[in-house]
Amino acid sequence: MSGTSHPVATIEDLGRFAGQTVELRGWVHNRTSKGKLHFVTLRDGSGFCQCVLKKNQVGDELFEEIGGASQESSIVLSGEVREDERAPGGFEVSVCGGRVMQSTEEFPISPKEHGADFLLSRRHLWLRSRRQWAIMRVRSAIMFALRRFFDERGFVCIDSPIFTPSACEGTSTLFEVDYFDEKAYLTQSGQLYAEASAMAFGKVYTFGPTFRAEKSKTRRHLTEFWMLEPEVAYAELEDVIQLAEDMMVSVVGEVLERRRTELDVLERDISKLEAVKGGFPRITYDDASKMLLENPEIEFIEGDDFGAPHEEFLASQHEQPLVITHYPKAVKAFYMKEAPDDPTRVLAMDIIGPEGAGELIGGSQREENLQVLLDAIAKHELPMEEFEWYLDLRRFGSVPHGGFGLGLERLVRWITGVEHIRETSPFPRMMTRIRP
Ligand code: 4AD
Ligand code: MG
Repeated sequence: MSGTSHPVATIEDLGRFAGQTVELRGWVHNRTSKGKLHFVTLRDGSGFCQCVLKKNQVGDELFEEIGGASQESSIVLSGEVREDERAPGGFEVSVCGGRVMQSTEEFPISPKEHGADFLLSRRHLWLRSRRQWAIMRVRSAIMFALRRFFDERGFVCIDSPIFTPSACEGTSTLFEVDYFDEKAYLTQSGQLYAEASAMAFGKVYTFGPTFRAEKSKTRRHLTEFWMLEPEVAYAELEDVIQLAEDMMVSVVGEVLERRRTELDVLERDISKLEAVKGGFPRITYDDASKMLLENPEIEFIEGDDFGAPHEEFLASQHEQPLVITHYPKAVKAFYMKEAPDDPTRVLAMDIIGPEGAGELIGGSQREENLQVLLDAIAKHELPMEEFEWYLDLRRFGSVPHGGFGLGLERLVRWITGVEHIRETSPFPRMMTRIRP
C-alpha cells in the first residue's frame, strides 16, 4: 500500500525510530477520549502502542473520525515516536495525521469476559486479542527455535506424507479417508518415514501436522496437532534422551530471550522456565510404579500405562521435566526395541513436563532386528504387507537408531502456561469442533 511520505514502522521495531515521524498501520484495540484528546491503543500485529491525538494538531476532521472509530476499526496513523518509560512497550506516538480505513461498529468480542464456546466460534476474530497475540507469537518463536536447533546440528528436514496406508501408533485413533476407492488414513506420526530418511541422511527431522481420532475431551488433546520428530541413525536410547534434553533447554532459553513481553502479557511465572537448565531427573517405569503403589491416594494397577494423574504426580516431585524410561513392552508401540536384559521392557522414554503439562515427548530406540520386528507386527495384528517397505530398512544395512516425537501444542501450552490446549493452536481441531 502506498502511504504518506513517512517511513512505515512496526510497533515491535519502534525503538529504531525514536524521535522520528513514522506511519503505523493497524487497528484500534482500544480508545478513550478526554475533551480534546484521544488515546488510541493501536495494534498492528507486531505489538500494541499508545497513540495520542490532540485536536489542535490533527485537525477537526480526523479528530472527529477517530472519535467515531470503535474497537477493531482499521486505521493508519502517522506521528512522532516518543520514548516514554510509563508507556507499555516504552514508546508512545504523538499523532500528526492519518486516516480511518474502515470504521467498525460493535466488534463481537469486547474486553469483557466471554465463554469459551462463544470465543471458539469466533476464533477468526478472537485471534486479535492481546492474549491470543501473545500465545501465537510464542508458538511461532518455538517453531523457529526448534528448527534452528536441529538445522544447526546438521539435521536434514524431511517431510513425511499426510496420507498413509497404515497405522504407526495403534489402530484405535486413525482417521479414515477415501483415497480413490482405497482406504487410507491421515498420519498419526511421521516416524516410520523418518526412520527410512535417517538411513538415507543420518540425522533427520519431520515437522508437520498429525492426526488422532482421540475421543478424549481433555485440556491436552487435539485431533490435529503438530509433531516434531527427529530420528538419528546409530543413536541409542541414551543419545535420544540427551538430544531431547538439549532441545528443551535450547528452546526454552530462546523463548525467554525473544518473547519476554508476550510471557509478561500471559502473566507467566518465568522462574518455572528459568529452572529448565538440563540434567533432567530420570526414573524407570518400575521405580515410578513403585512410587505410585506406595501412594494410597492414587489408583494404579501395576503393568498399566501411566495416565494423566500418574504423570502429574510423578512430575510434581521435580522442577524440571521428568524422563521416564523402560516401559513394559505390552503398553508401547510395535517398533520399540526390547531391553537387552529384560524382554518384557522396551527402550522407551517419555518426557513429562512440570506444572501439570503432561507428556510432552514420547520416543525410543527402535527395534533393528528383522525377526523381532516381524513378531511384533504379527502380535499387534498389523497388516504385514503394508510394512514390507519398512522391514526393508532392517534388511539393508540395519543399524541401531532412535528418535522421539514432540507435541508442539503441548509444549506451547506448558511454556505459555495456558490451561487449555485449544488456545495454543490458531484454529484448533477437537472432537467437538471443526469450525471455523
Ligand atoms: O507419544 P506419541 O504417540 O509418539 C509417537 O507418535 C511416536 N511415533 C513419536 C516418535 O517416536 N517419532 O506422540 C508424541 C507426542 C506426545 O508426547 C504428545 O506430546 C503429542 O505427540 N501428542 C498429542 N498432542 C496433542 N493432542 C494429541 N491428541 C496428542 N497425541 C500425542
Ligand atoms: Mg506417547
